[in-house]
Amino acid sequence: MRVLGIETSCDETAAAVVEDGRRALSDVVATQIEIHRRWGGVVPELASRNHVVQVMPVVDEAVTRAGGPAMIDAIAVTSGPGLVGALLVGVQVAKGLALAWDKPLVGVNHLEGHLLAAFLGEEPPTFPFLGLVVSGGHTSLYRARAFGDYELLGSTRDDAAGEAFDKGAKLLGLPYPGGVAIDRLAKAGDPRAVKFPKAIVKGADLAFSFSGLKTALLHHVKKHGVPEGQGLADLCASYQEAIVGALVQKAVRAARRFQLPTLVLAGGVAANSRLRAAAAEAAAGYDDLRLVLPTVKLCTDNAAMIAAAAHYQLETEGATPMDFDVEPDLALVNW
Ligand code: KG4
Ligand code: ZN
Repeated sequence: MRVLGIETSCDETAAAVVEDGRRALSDVVATQIEIHRRWGGVVPELASRNHVVQVMPVVDEAVTRAGGPAMIDAIAVTSGPGLVGALLVGVQVAKGLALAWDKPLVGVNHLEGHLLAAFLGEEPPTFPFLGLVVSGGHTSLYRARAFGDYELLGSTRDDAAGEAFDKGAKLLGLPYPGGVAIDRLAKAGDPRAVKFPKAIVKGADLAFSFSGLKTALLHHVKKHGVPEGQGLADLCASYQEAIVGALVQKAVRAARRFQLPTLVLAGGVAANSRLRAAAAEAAAGYDDLRLVLPTVKLCTDNAAMIAAAAHYQLETEGATPMDFDVEPDLALVNW
């Protein structure tokens, strides 16, 4: 079974063909980062317009690399969450192709795509596992029991981890996307140089809160200005450490409490080099805790994860009726 996945929920136009939910035959991503950078963040209208320009060439490239339309058995597309105008572009194209090629269509939850991206790796997880999904809009801990069976164990009370990176970077005058810039600068910095509050919530030990951290950075910058050179590297490393520390602590705590032998990282923030290293260090402290880290390309937005999720969705629920709509606020699990 080969599924063509299409992803246009935010600022990447992506298409991929995945075989049996496990092997990407093609994986094409056209990023809009340069377009949004001068505005300091994603401008929804610009995102939609550029998806319109990019989507057909990107789909064409993914299908051609996989051997042509005759190879495709089903079409999958992100139906939410995301920017409404951006989602509409992918969904309309997917519906058009499904009708033209007479193939089943599957609407996929972007967050489930992130969570299942790990199945495209060399050593996929087995159920049950603890999934930490950390992206630009979400920061959640899930107990994954089986495909389509997820329980939300904790999430952020305010900003997402990616937002904390992006807003922090903006305060420091760094380019969008901030997580990438902070990750790069932090490599040469001392994570103990500046004290930041922990991104945790008193009395809710699997919840996160990143807004206090952002405020602390704002106060620091108001008082001391934005440093340069080593000072900037130290500040980035310290800020990053506060975010990463909370993520790893709570993910490991949840895995242990619910006796989940595998920890899976997912979403754009899981591309962060310090988070990857810290999670590996923490998991190494337990004989019975395995860490599954998808490649960086599979962590940030891509369509292979959407096609993979659709494969399992087709097996469990079947195709989605053609009249489905985009759902900008779609959740993976209702709290
Ligand atoms: O999953 P994703 O690509 O899109 C959403 O679904 O939101 O995640 C984007 C987020 C952005 O906030 C970006 O700054 C962050 O992922 N990000 C990173 C890194 N690469 C991307 N954050 C920290 N370190 C990175 N290396
Ligand atoms: Zn995403």
